[in-house]
Amino acid sequence: MSDSVFLQEITDFTEALAREAGELIRHEREENTLRTDYKHQTELVTHADVMADEFITGTIRERFPHHRILSEETMPDLSQAEELETPLWIVDPIDGTVNYAYGHPQVAVSIAYAEKGNVRAGVVHAPFAGETFRATEGCGATLNGLPVRHSGATNPRQSLFATGFPYTKDNLEPLVQRLNAMIHQCRDLRRIGSAALDICWVACGRLDIYYENVSPWDFAAARLIAKEAGATVGHFGEVPEGYPADLYGRDILISAPAIWEAVRAILRTASNYD
Ligand code: IPD
Ligand code: CA
Ligand code: CA
Repeated sequence: MSDSVFLQEITDFTEALAREAGELIRHEREENTLRTDYKHQTELVTHADVMADEFITGTIRERFPHHRILSEETMPDLSQAEELETPLWIVDPIDGTVNYAYGHPQVAVSIAYAEKGNVRAGVVHAPFAGETFRATEGCGATLNGLPVRHSGATNPRQSLFATGFPYTKDNLEPLVQRLNAMIHQCRDLRRIGSAALDICWVACGRLDIYYENVSPWDFAAARLIAKEAGATVGHFGEVPEGYPADLYGRDILISAPAIWEAVRAILRTASNYD
């Protein structure tokens, strides 16, 4: 089987899996009482996060028993990102858990497939909105089967940005400084509550800029979708040598290409990097 046929098959499998997990989490919220809990003291998790994670990782394991998996709820071992030898799946069963628990619609299942640290297929499926973003390396990005493209924004002052904040409140000050700089120099902010959707929305032009510090499962699939939609994907800080940039979650910056450098400069200055 050729590499491109294999990758299309992988993406089809990923999409079917994300849709099925989407049905599961929709059903759990609409038909059952959500059971909530906390991990690391402050981080909200529902029984549906764990159910969906077990469903997705179990299905991947059955089909590809020799592949590795990095998933937020059941296999969160981040050192997997640096193991480059066997293919790696990166799974967030529910991105936007707080939205999910509050009955908001901005919730997504995110699944990415990587080889040697390069993400080659990704699907972000939003079950309440009925929207499926999908990309295969080199083949463009789609939303419900139709090609998507970045906004083409040319000026930060007329650009809409999204970002997010961690659950822990112990080191918020640097993030507030970045927000202060961005809100003064861009059009406005949206805090959507799902990093995967923030990035997909940059991919399809509903937003112009996204930046944040997140974990690989939050952005791996969406980053490929944005890249394939022609957005510029990168970091405003340094990526440690040898670490796969596709999976490095600190200081991520994704935007329409013409404004990327200018926004990078704003964020670097606000971070005292220069
Ligand atoms: C969170 C969301 C949010 C981002 C947080 C993430 P979760 O993921 O992506 O937008 O700001 O940093 O942890 O917990 O809902 O899967
Ligand atoms: Ca997440
Ligand atoms: Ca999650």
